[in-house]
Amino acid sequence: MRMYDIIEKKRNGHELNENEIRFFVKGFTDGTIPDYQASALMMAIYFQGMTEKETVCLTDAMAKSGDTVDLSRFGDLSVDKHSTGGVGDKTSLIVGPIVASLGGKVSKMSGRGLGHTGGTVDKLESIDGYKTTLTNEEFLNQVENVGLAIIGQSGNLTPADKKLYALRDVTATVDSIPLITSSIMSKKLAAGSHNIVLDVKAGSGAFMKTIYDAEALAEQMVKIGKSCNRNIAAVITDMNSPLGNAIGNSLEVIEAVKVLKGEVKNDLYEVSVQLATLMLSLCFGWSEAEAEEKVISAIENGSAFSKMKEWIKAQGGDEKLLEDTSLFDEAEFAYEVKSDEAGYIDGFDTEKIGLVSVRLGAGREKKGDSIDYSAGIILKKKCSDYVSKGDTLAVFFTNNESSLKDAELLFKDSLIISSEKSEERPLIYKIIK
Ligand code: URA
Repeated sequence: MRMYDIIEKKRNGHELNENEIRFFVKGFTDGTIPDYQASALMMAIYFQGMTEKETVCLTDAMAKSGDTVDLSRFGDLSVDKHSTGGVGDKTSLIVGPIVASLGGKVSKMSGRGLGHTGGTVDKLESIDGYKTTLTNEEFLNQVENVGLAIIGQSGNLTPADKKLYALRDVTATVDSIPLITSSIMSKKLAAGSHNIVLDVKAGSGAFMKTIYDAEALAEQMVKIGKSCNRNIAAVITDMNSPLGNAIGNSLEVIEAVKVLKGEVKNDLYEVSVQLATLMLSLCFGWSEAEAEEKVISAIENGSAFSKMKEWIKAQGGDEKLLEDTSLFDEAEFAYEVKSDEAGYIDGFDTEKIGLVSVRLGAGREKKGDSIDYSAGIILKKKCSDYVSKGDTLAVFFTNNESSLKDAELLFKDSLIISSEKSEERPLIYKIIK
């Protein structure tokens, strides 16, 4: 078999067979197929798409390209969630403890931020001492005893995706539905959970800019999960605005604490309640109404927040920071961004807001850059809010004063202010099961 023929076949719009797909995944993973041929195939797939059969096969081959995690000791109670990526999305820090406090076994491997999107691993590393690497045994014991462990992507899990994602990132082939589907689902399948909830983001801060595309992606992923005997559901949620008010690592941990303590009931709270509800109804077969009632009472009675402290402590983190969030290191500069005009906030270019926080130091411009855990943004105004000239739109936090001017210009450029209040967008568009 020759890679040249596989590229040509896909370029000409034909369906690849199982042997061809497995040949490609194996050869690319072991380095016998070079990057330039893999890039050509990615571009051919980008333009020609893949049939469902091809996507299932690509996902399976990638899932089996390295180690897999065996969670069979948790029976039907193992549960994972995944977000397709957005700005201010810290729901894992909230839903993990809620679900674990109600008996689910949450085992999660998360990524770091890249580009405009943040990553759960970076957020957790803003907590002193938190270990994002555990041995397999430590990881499974913690899931068993605490009900929750979140670590970084383990060494040899889906190496095919690791290599392919890096290649797609620099060849303009990320936003392809079959390629995103196989990338995400291969990781979820290899990570072993029986129950999976996907948060598929739609809007200006997401890979999928339209609800139509987000729905197509969600449907594909759910179909593939089901064909691999997983209990799976997807929620399509809005990413035309950052989720919650905090963007940046320790700022997001602090906001998650406030939601878990029941002190904040914003859009982040609503999406978190929805995700935790679905995770629990998949795990235990509860109706959504029953699961939602339990989720809300776990927040109100403090058991979810206690679980968060237990989890952070078990993983080496300083839980005193959660009890008193003023103990987190503060950025040297806090700068208020004032509005130049009056009107209603009609929306944000959310991707740009993510880039503003990167500029302030909260993310990486390129892989390997160090980050400033205390940097970021607190939004004082969100969609549909009225602002007068001179009102504070946001507060920027940074240790790099010279980044402020540029960040302010980009932030203002990302705002859409209108004289009329437009209809509010739904936060949760659709649930696909
Ligand atoms: N997240 C992933 O893990 N893979 C993609 O391809 C896109 C988003």
